[in-house]
Amino acid sequence: MTQTHSLYLKNKNFHETHPVNFINTQALLQGWQKLLDLPSLQSLASDITPSRHPKFQSLASKAKNLWNFFNEDRGNSDHKLKNKHYMDDASLLEGYLASFYIPNCERNFALFTKEESLYALENLLKNNHELSFLDFGSGPLSASVGFLCALEHIFQQNPELSLPTSIKIFAVERSEKIFLKGKALLLNAWLGQIPLHIEKCTSVEKLPQDVHVAACSNSLNEIPTKFRMTTLNNIVEKLVPQGCLLILEPGQEQHARALGYLRNEINNKYTAEEVSLLGPCTHRNTCPMALGASRSDWCWFKHAWNPPETQAVLDRLTGLDHHVLNYSYVLFCKKPQFQQKSHYARVVSDAMPLRPENHGALLYLKSNLLKGDAEYLDENSHEHILYKNILCTNDTQTLKGSISIEKPLSRGFIIRKEDDLEFIFAERQEGKENR
Ligand SMILES: C[S@@+](CC[C@H](N)C(=O)[O-])C[C@H]1O[C@@H](n2cnc3c(N)ncnc32)[C@H](O)[C@@H]1O
Repeated sequence: MTQTHSLYLKNKNFHETHPVNFINTQALLQGWQKLLDLPSLQSLASDITPSRHPKFQSLASKAKNLWNFFNEDRGNSDHKLKNKHYMDDASLLEGYLASFYIPNCERNFALFTKEESLYALENLLKNNHELSFLDFGSGPLSASVGFLCALEHIFQQNPELSLPTSIKIFAVERSEKIFLKGKALLLNAWLGQIPLHIEKCTSVEKLPQDVHVAACSNSLNEIPTKFRMTTLNNIVEKLVPQGCLLILEPGQEQHARALGYLRNEINNKYTAEEVSLLGPCTHRNTCPMALGASRSDWCWFKHAWNPPETQAVLDRLTGLDHHVLNYSYVLFCKKPQFQQKSHYARVVSDAMPLRPENHGALLYLKSNLLKGDAEYLDENSHEHILYKNILCTNDTQTLKGSISIEKPLSRGFIIRKEDDLEFIFAERQEGKENR
């Protein structure tokens, strides 16, 4: 099989993919703006800035209400929505479309174009056949849009792959309204050469057929905890061999830790041959940052992008900065037949600068060095900034630290082999109580 993904150009944003086979993202954005009844920025009279336009203002206020509901009010049993779902509230639904739809299309696009996803997706696209996708908790089909834009990108980078003969999207979504709005947006932007079928199903068990790829995008956290594993098991059952499951959750502590717990459960239930973990982890050991682990940090990542202009205007008004998108994720493949690359580690922290006056920290690092020369480190610490990162490695003692001189590592970066690092130290087994 030809795999050109290592030569891929740097990923664009989902809305910058060139429309060739699948989706016209400019039409999608125009449809989105029309649905929200937002004037184009160019059409605004010169004496009115978007921030003073009543429609922009009202949408921003709806998005802020939804944000507050997600972050503060959801657990409040006195909340006016206590017996109602937020997607059944016209104002909050609009707030969702205004503030979360586009960033979530991008989050999914970014994840489906990650190195580990490309292996699995290219493998599924070796022969032309119908391609089916499950969008669980689809909302306005943000994961489907991200996936289709990723396909557009993949085919442009690797034209040797075979275009699907048709595409079927099965959405499991409790809100008919949001599903229909997303479906209309997607169909309006569909280029039409490849037949596209979009169908809403009442549950995973009721899917009319098995699927090649499944996504749970920001939806697992809305299912009661006791049903989450059953849902995931049902999805795994419905995947074809070599099919992929992407679970995307918010980057916040509560959601990322809960996802780590589910990842452990799936790994315990299935062997690596049955369900293989493609990312972000480089190992199948218990997740050191999951719910129940003693660490005070959690496994999350971030993606910087250029939001479409209208989204950026709305974000300025709501104060929700979507220039950097945080998320947590896990990617699985059922019965993979390709050789998975084994990497040494994933960087799971931002780079923390260590200044020369930071004597205590430096002493700890020098006395806990697993790799590298303590004297050399000491000499460098006087003249250069040292950067510390936390790594999740494929060793039994999973969490380690690395030190780089003058070159900070980015969160999410893959370390292919141990030799790529100059200094490795044993990370403190810090507990939650040490916060
Ligand atoms: C936060 S939204 C995410 C929407 C979309 N996937 C995205 O990433 O933008 C969660 C969606 O999951 C849906 N949902 C939650 N629990 C569900 C369930 N048990 N069955 C079907 N849909 C569900 C909600 O109606 C909502 O539309």
